[in-house]
Amino acid sequence: GAAVEVDVSALQPGEKLTVEWRGKPVWVVRRTPEQLAELAKMDAQMADPASDRKAYPIPEYAKNTHRSIKPEFLVVIGVCTHLGCSPSDKFVAGPQASLPDDWKGGFLCPCHGSTFDMAGRVFKNKPAPDNLEVPPHMYLSDAKLLIG
Ligand code: FES
Repeated sequence: GAAVEVDVSALQPGEKLTVEWRGKPVWVVRRTPEQLAELAKMDAQMADPASDRKAYPIPEYAKNTHRSIKPEFLVVIGVCTHLGCSPSDKFVAGPQASLPDDWKGGFLCPCHGSTFDMAGRVFKNKPAPDNLEVPPHMYLSDAKLLIG
């Protein structure tokens, strides 16, 4: 499939846009400073905090807590690594049905309840075996992202 160019200049902190790449939804999320600050505190709750698993190739630039080239921009494939449902946005903090009381935001898969943090890292003891996949990508400029 062809690479997809995305203009991220209008994306505000806390917002997400979705583009299609190779028939899959790719999410670009601009994280807030608060969301980034939470990520480092979440490592102990994650199944694979540093994305060391090898089920699929993770680019070197995504093997860190924020799983991205630029800390504020998350780029992940929005497909659950369990059986392929698309997780929904659960950006908001605070208690909600089916989420932990100390939920700090992230993504929830509606099919079997896997939860992912704001870096797409799967929480421990969930059916999804892996973090959300990071597609190959690069920045052409501050505003332009190339996926693929
Ligand atoms: Fe997402 Fe099963 S498909 S938890």
